[in-house]
Amino acid sequence: MGAADRQKDMGTQETTGADGATNMENAGAEGAGARFTLITGACGGLGGAFVELLAERGAPLFLTGRSRERLELLAQKLHEKYPELPVKTCACDLTDRESRAALFSYADGEKIALRRLVYVAGVDTQMAFERYDEERLVFQTRVNLEGAVSLINGFLRRAPLDGDTEILCVGSMSAITPMPYFALYSATKKGLEQFCGGLRSELKGRAKVTCVMPGGIPTRDDIKENIKAHGFWGRVSAKSPRAVAEASLKAVRRNKRRKIVGFWNKVIHFFSSLAPMPLRLKVIAKMWKGTEKDHFSEK
Ligand SMILES: NC(=O)c1ccc[n+]([C@@H]2O[C@H](COP(=O)([O-])OP(=O)(O)OC[C@H]3O[C@@H](n4cnc5c(N)ncnc54)[C@H](OP(=O)(O)O)[C@@H]3O)[C@@H](O)[C@H]2O)c1
Repeated sequence: MGAADRQKDMGTQETTGADGATNMENAGAEGAGARFTLITGACGGLGGAFVELLAERGAPLFLTGRSRERLELLAQKLHEKYPELPVKTCACDLTDRESRAALFSYADGEKIALRRLVYVAGVDTQMAFERYDEERLVFQTRVNLEGAVSLINGFLRRAPLDGDTEILCVGSMSAITPMPYFALYSATKKGLEQFCGGLRSELKGRAKVTCVMPGGIPTRDDIKENIKAHGFWGRVSAKSPRAVAEASLKAVRRNKRRKIVGFWNKVIHFFSSLAPMPLRLKVIAKMWKGTEKDHFSEK
């Protein structure tokens, strides 16, 4: 990343010191004049990769997740590695309206100026829909769609729409087609993609909006098992959290409507769009029937 990008992340002017070395105005002066990136799911696998990448680039960070302890630990680690980096944290349950309002009250109280929203949080429960109960379906729908839309709304009320403002949502390759045995996840990610596409047009010239659609990302152990269980296609579709985070940040900087990450995922997307829907559904059902992921069993 060049100096210009670093400047944008800091929301600062680059200045030249007496010793001739460049330095960042405000570096070390937490929050003063800097514009923050709000990252949801910051303590998770992919969220952690965004945190690390943006920290390396000197972007002030406003991190959220459900656990205050984990957020504090993460902030502590960042402080040790990047002592000059402004980092704010606030716990938030994205399924809860009051908790979301409290997140923005905290941001307002702390005068956190926002530049970028990276909505990473997501729930990938995967099973036959008839096995879902009300709690599971409400939880997954709220985190994947309602939470994202609500945070974007709160973000837009605060961030200056100056053309540099960025909204990046983590969707999924699962959105490219209806998915038996992953039906609700696929539908929420499709909803997120559609929403981002519409919003991007509304905000043209004022903010960049991208929905990124990764294939498998080996973050948690159950996901690694899942990728293995899907054989060749699972393997070639998978990309590391860092590769996904890098491609995503690049895509939103270029204001791409959506980004499919990785060569093989583009191939899968191409051929799946050519295949007749009944064939697609048959193949997916066969591949996905044999695997399950249940967010609640991970607790
Ligand atoms: N891994 C993959 O194969 C894959 C593929 C395509 C897309 N994705 C998407 O990538 C994103 C990150 O997934 P990951 O693999 O990194 O999984 P992960 O480590 O389980 O991360 C999911 C994150 O969502 C957050 N979250 C869940 N429920 C929440 C709630 N009620 N309130 C606030 N935060 C909540 C969790 O935060 P806390 O637990 O800290 O609260 C966690 O950090 C998800 O949107 C997922 O759908 C993943």
